[in-house]
Amino acid sequence: MSLLNRNPHVLSRFCALLLLGTAALHASAQPVAQATVASAHPAATVAGLETLAGGGNAFDAAVAIASALAVVEPYGSGLGGGGFFLLRQAGPKPTYRFIDARERAPLASSAQMYMRNGKVQPELSLNGPLAAAIPGLPAALAEITSRFGRKPLADNLVPAIRLATDGVSIDRVYIDRAEGRLEAMRKDRETSRVFLQQGNLPEEWDLLRQPDLAKTLERLARYGRSGFYEGETADRLVEGVRAAGGIWSLEDLRSYQVVERQPLRYPLADGRELISAPPPSAGGVALAQSLGMLAQLPWQKAEPTQRVHYVAEVLRRAYHDRSMLGDPDRIANPVQQLLAPDYLKRLAAGIDPNRATPSASLPPKPTWREGDHTTHFVVIDEQGNAVAATLSVNLPFGSAFTPPGTGVVLNDEMDDFAADIEGSNAYGLAGSAANAIASGKRPLSSMSPSFIESPNELAAFGTPGGSRIPSMVLLAMLQYLDGRAVQNWVSAPRYHNQYLPDVLEHEPRTFTDAQKADLTARGYTLKDVGRSYGNQQVLLWNKKNGDVDAASDPRGIGLAAGTTVHY
Ligand code: DON
Repeated sequence: MSLLNRNPHVLSRFCALLLLGTAALHASAQPVAQATVASAHPAATVAGLETLAGGGNAFDAAVAIASALAVVEPYGSGLGGGGFFLLRQAGPKPTYRFIDARERAPLASSAQMYMRNGKVQPELSLNGPLAAAIPGLPAALAEITSRFGRKPLADNLVPAIRLATDGVSIDRVYIDRAEGRLEAMRKDRETSRVFLQQGNLPEEWDLLRQPDLAKTLERLARYGRSGFYEGETADRLVEGVRAAGGIWSLEDLRSYQVVERQPLRYPLADGRELISAPPPSAGGVALAQSLGMLAQLPWQKAEPTQRVHYVAEVLRRAYHDRSMLGDPDRIANPVQQLLAPDYLKRLAAGIDPNRATPSASLPPKPTWREGDHTTHFVVIDEQGNAVAATLSVNLPFGSAFTPPGTGVVLNDEMDDFAADIEGSNAYGLAGSAANAIASGKRPLSSMSPSFIESPNELAAFGTPGGSRIPSMVLLAMLQYLDGRAVQNWVSAPRYHNQYLPDVLEHEPRTFTDAQKADLTARGYTLKDVGRSYGNQQVLLWNKKNGDVDAASDPRGIGLAAGTTVHY
């Protein structure tokens, strides 16, 4: 057993559970020394390890982790939300798959649905049943298990059902997220009953028991996807939504499908390749564009502030282009054009090595809206099967609306659409026609589960953080490309430029005073966002010696850990 990333205050409670051993394994050509998980919550990491130790592969473990997170982090992701799973199937030539479990707009949705008296009402796409799109996570859990797992769905859901039934201790992150959403949570009687204490914040260490959610999970375990999208759960979801003024129908649930898409693949220097999220995520395109532009620039040799400048400028240009992207089932995404070498060369050539480019001087783009809390995990099994998954209900506790009797708090992913294509969303992201609301459409996302693979290594990345996801993942990738240890990938200080608003955001301790003065002189408007952000989970498999290193962001309460493999 080894603990790859220690989080002292949770370690003692969980280390006993981590003494797991996997069965004797035949050596493969490129053995993984120990199956490993990094997730945002220790109980979810343990759920993954338990599944691996019980004979499950990385795909079974991903289902166990995702469903456990749905119970222990109801503020971050859940059965009422969706997400993206990037899979790597091991083999001499690995196969990559991208499972799009993004929520879909209800069939009765329309571009004008949040307009009242000619004005968009942001409240409506953020809180309450109208904010909720049709969930994708339950379908993904069933699909990933049946297509790629070794175990039945019911086995993979055991840890989640146990956590929902027995309860989990409420931690500081839960309280922090609930505090930020208290007003909205109090407005819905069921959300308040399930997630608050008599309408108030629970205390740290209170036990959160979720018997209704346990029953919903049991129906999923017993009947597979139809145990959620049809029958008792579906009836309760639709009745609850409609009784509170929402527009879901049984047909919305029955017709929901996850979509397998081609992952975005982009060659990097030194035999490496980026494998990341394609649309309806804008994240992979932004990462590929950023890395493609950086390849034209001497970022690696640059002194620290000069490097910040290059990174901020490539991010500005990549986020600028985001407005061309949307649901690939509805619009033609110009991905090839956006990644064309000549185009990226031209963009990189427009970067002044000394001065910030004012965003307003780039050709104008309409602004759009997007979504604030989510989760990410990574897992690799002893054969080299791996998953990077980012899952979300959007804002903490999603729409703060829970259909009675289900235990399922619904997402507010509708806010990731451009409800107002002239406006911006909860993340200040600009709107665009490509991401306008339409019946059955998937909203554009920033979630960016990613791998970088070469003959010698596999690195996996991802984090929550709304519009800041691609910039955080990029910064972690640059740490990796610089040869830094995994702990640095997650702990390095963060900064962010998303084209509009034209500011260089940063965590309180990212820059020294001298760096701030230098950046200001280059034309940046700095904005200390006043707190740390993100919750990145990463791993690195060294294929030459089989070692796996993983790390969980010190900003969160997560845990990275591996099982011992006996050959
Ligand atoms: O899909 C998206 O881009 C957003 N709904 C993700 C939200 C998020 O990461 C919030 N995290 N803090």
